Amino acid sequence: MNSILNIDDLHLEVRRDHIANPVLSGVDLSIKIGEIHGLVGNSGAGKSMLAKAILGILPAATRISSGVINFDGKDITRLDSKQRRHLASRHIAMIPQDPMTSLNPVRRVGKQVCDVLQLHMGMDRGKAQQETQRLLDNVQIREPKTVMRMYPFELSGGMRQRVLIAIAFSCKPELIIADEPTTALDVTVQRQILQLIKQLQMNSATALLFISHDLGVVAKICDRVSIMQSGRIVECQTAESLFDEPQHAYTQSLLETTSKYYRFDRGTNTHSETPAEHQDHA
Ligand SMILES: Nc1ncnc2c1ncn2[C@@H]1O[C@H](COP(=O)(O)OP(=O)(O)OP(=O)(O)O)[C@@H](O)[C@H]1O
Ligand SMILES: [Mg+2]
Repeated sequence: MNSILNIDDLHLEVRRDHIANPVLSGVDLSIKIGEIHGLVGNSGAGKSMLAKAILGILPAATRISSGVINFDGKDITRLDSKQRRHLASRHIAMIPQDPMTSLNPVRRVGKQVCDVLQLHMGMDRGKAQQETQRLLDNVQIREPKTVMRMYPFELSGGMRQRVLIAIAFSCKPELIIADEPTTALDVTVQRQILQLIKQLQMNSATALLFISHDLGVVAKICDRVSIMQSGRIVECQTAESLFDEPQHAYTQSLLETTSKYYRFDRGTNTHSETPAEHQDHA
């Protein structure tokens, strides 16, 4: 299968007090068209920095010192900021970690989805409203017309994350980066959101980079998993073989801290058994 993203020997540093500190030290990563690729590693390993490098939203003090990020055949580190913004808005989308702060608090939910469709898909207002209703329905929001008129504070965390997932899929991007998309949610809602992401991804041709520190969660929804330690990918395997035959000592230590519950759960496909989240809009 062809790759949509190929990262080759990527080095990235952060400047602090005039000293350059390495954050990514030769990352190699390849994501195939349409796959769910997990990225797992401890806190500070560099997962979010790698995501930001792909999205072109690195903090000011950081610099890519060498390496290539090849997206759909082009080295995107060489694009100017306008080309990069177009790419990030239309072809690479993200599902953020914190649904509570990721929507505009003073704009109605429906308008926020419509804005994206009008701006990036060139739809007129009427078409964008229709499509917004369809997208909200797709992420299993009941009464989408009512929800479109609400403000973010009127929705639960799970509902907001559903809206953000709808936005991420709205422009039919080739790649979506989900950076810990469920950690801010309670456990029951986490499961539903994971199922939803998996289901939407399966119904589209979109590749997904799913970032987590939890190998158990990743193993449940990913095709392949890359393990990151101290700014490097130390192992990449199918989810199945990673659990059965971890090669790297760091992967083995991560597996030891993965709960038995997830190991069991992985074997009993749970993707369709949880009922839809109670939508109290509160
Ligand atoms: N805005 C920033 N400015 C400077 N350095 C940063 C910034 N954000 C992160 N770093 C540094 O970059 C390194 C990698 O951080 P990163 O956020 O990518 O880790 P992570 O793997 O995503 O961790 P977590 O699992 O906690 O989210 C860390 O050493 C961190 O201190
Ligand atoms: Mg992070």
